[in-house]
Amino acid sequence: PAAWTDVGEPDDFPDGAVWPVVAGGMPIAMFRQGESLHALHDLCTHGNARLSDGYVENGRIECPLHQGLFDICTGAACGGPVTEAVRSYPVRVRDGRVEVATP
Ligand code: FES
Repeated sequence: PAAWTDVGEPDDFPDGAVWPVVAGGMPIAMFRQGESLHALHDLCTHGNARLSDGYVENGRIECPLHQGLFDICTGAACGGPVTEAVRSYPVRVRDGRVEVATP
């Protein structure tokens, strides 16, 4: 079963930014797009790079190493040299705290 990990308050994650957190012992890149929060595995599927070191643009995160693009909501690969989706994790807000579910 999934375990929910507290990763902070909604205001810790500014709109349009990416922020690294750890949940379930795994590196996670946290995003806010307007009112919605998203969590992706914080490692590019193409090489050894942290997506949280990348750039957010138009609902996508650009990998800092070779400019591969992933959809922030789904983790889908959507440009550059990346062909494999990055894992996306469920996020919820409970009692004013942001929680991420990891397996
Ligand atoms: Fe991310 Fe190559 S390591 S695009």
